[in-house]
Amino acid sequence: MRKRHRSHWWTALHQLGRRWAPASWEHHFYTRRERDPSLDFSGVVLPEDVGLDPQHAVRSTPSSDQALRRLLDSLVIAPTHCILDVGSGKGSAMRVMLRYPFARVDGLELAEDLVHIARQNFARLGVEPSRCQVHAGDAATFAALDDYSHLYLYNPFSADVLRAHLQQVSASLRRQPRPLWLLYVNAKWTREIDVLGLFRLERRLPGQWAQPMRIYRAN
Ligand SMILES: C[S@@+](CC[C@H](N)C(=O)[O-])C[C@H]1O[C@@H](n2cnc3c(N)ncnc32)[C@H](O)[C@@H]1O
Repeated sequence: MRKRHRSHWWTALHQLGRRWAPASWEHHFYTRRERDPSLDFSGVVLPEDVGLDPQHAVRSTPSSDQALRRLLDSLVIAPTHCILDVGSGKGSAMRVMLRYPFARVDGLELAEDLVHIARQNFARLGVEPSRCQVHAGDAATFAALDDYSHLYLYNPFSADVLRAHLQQVSASLRRQPRPLWLLYVNAKWTREIDVLGLFRLERRLPGQWAQPMRIYRAN
């Protein structure tokens, strides 16, 4: 009886912990200052809440705006460059990227509910659809990568999915050889990138909340 009680509390605490992320709190306070309260860029969404498999999809939390700005400030961005946020969630990182001179800032998201929220956010902000699109799709099979010069990943998925995504990236580089930067924040599966032999590590930057940031380049 006592054991069952304790395990209930343990489960409840564990669930609470999974719904808490420092970057999300950073956003919570930031969002309180949003002029339009209907914008929804922050908060934690667990994969199982949006029908995704927690074995493969990481919970949806926004990148730290501050760390992302530090990362983007370190790049030389040409007005022809286009960036894709792979696992774009509600679009929080895309909103920061839109302040930089990218020709396009697109997102790719597997959870349809999050795709819908992100599209609503950018429509409310009045962002031109010609500059910003959120694609609904799975990074493991999404092949329309040829237009992008930069891919941004905030540790969105498991090593298996990253391997499959890197195969798509590799096929895209064969079709369309070009310089391609991979911006990997909270870089967890670096071995998967190293063994591919396609990217070289250009730079490491300290991230927010001790999450390492890495800039890789192909070609
Ligand atoms: C940590 S969140 C990052 C959100 C956003 N990039 C940001 O930095 O603010 C990772 C996102 O990747 C999405 N995701 C997980 N697996 C995916 C897949 N196979 N294809 C596309 N998106 C995926 C999750 O649903 C989640 O919204």
